[in-house]
Amino acid sequence: MTDLTTTYLGLNLKNPLVASASPLPKKAENAKKLEDAGVSAIVMYSLFEEQIIHESLELDHYLTRGTNSFAEAMTYLPDIGTYNMGPDRYVDHLAELKQTVSIPVIGSLNGVSKGGWTRYARLMQDAGADAVELNMYYLSADPDLTGQELEDNYVELVSEVKASIDVPLAVKLSPFITSLPNLARRLVSAGADGLVLFNRFYQPDFDLEELEVVRTLTLSDSRDLLLPLRWISILHGKVKADLALTSGVHTALDVLKAMMAGAKVAMSTSAILQEGYDVISFILNDLQAWMEAHEYESIQQMQGSMSQQSVAEPAAFERSNYIQILSEFRDLP
Ligand SMILES: Cc1cc2nc3c(=O)[nH]c(=O)nc-3n(C[C@H](O)[C@H](O)[C@H](O)COP(=O)(O)O)c2cc1C
Repeated sequence: MTDLTTTYLGLNLKNPLVASASPLPKKAENAKKLEDAGVSAIVMYSLFEEQIIHESLELDHYLTRGTNSFAEAMTYLPDIGTYNMGPDRYVDHLAELKQTVSIPVIGSLNGVSKGGWTRYARLMQDAGADAVELNMYYLSADPDLTGQELEDNYVELVSEVKASIDVPLAVKLSPFITSLPNLARRLVSAGADGLVLFNRFYQPDFDLEELEVVRTLTLSDSRDLLLPLRWISILHGKVKADLALTSGVHTALDVLKAMMAGAKVAMSTSAILQEGYDVISFILNDLQAWMEAHEYESIQQMQGSMSQQSVAEPAAFERSNYIQILSEFRDLP
């Protein structure tokens, strides 16, 4: 029997397919469907810094009635809309999910600044979270802010969150970082037990008739796998942290590639949103069948087998590959 087990953030998982942060587990019954279909762990949707601050400002307002700073402060905060419930309900919901499923549940905290809001990492732990994922989703449009300052801020934030919890901490990163291996190492030194690659950024589009900026959310396909695949391959063996691949995991082959690059888990959301819960069992069945056909005994045996340090041609991940690809591209006839 092929052994699909893996470990991630010190958790023993029955297979490497994890449901990444998404609205899917918003209903406990859907979390159960994810578990029944076979995922080995669930990352909850994020609790946002803005949401926590929003609520504490509201509380402040009621405690200090008469000040007029409230309305102004509130306008800086984006509307979370219906994506998420308030911070306290989030924590209650996490506790409810823990009662509903027996697989690990990872809480997700999304924000960028240091401060009181990070205490919610601790509250997630107290509610039973098996680990916390910190998603630092930030786009700097400020010409005065240097990359160094931004990265220093990330590192300090990770230290702050890590200091407040005993459960493992994973950090979800953006691909838009100049020297990812360096930042990855600094984050691990600051306390990250795992790195989740990558956030998908949702790009604004223009409505030319209304002259408005419109929000877009395009779900991924397997082509989106290649970006995290390259970086997992490069980071494997260079940082002392578990690597998780997210973006473009739609098939068993995608999971296999993630494992061979060096990931401990492959996370999926778009595939499940597009095809329903059944896609999970299809992927796991295909994974097992592929491994049997290719005589692999275990997932752990293949992890990192195609990382940059293991392949015959390490330059395939770097600049020389770019030059080669361009020179091999055929012109139009
Ligand atoms: C509708 C939707 C909601 C999401 N919500 C969150 C979230 O709350 N926190 C987070 O870190 N990532 C969130 N993500 C990102 C996913 O966790 C995942 O990293 C991303 O979609 C790439 O994986 P995929 O290609 O399997 O979709 C969301 C994605 C989608 C499509």
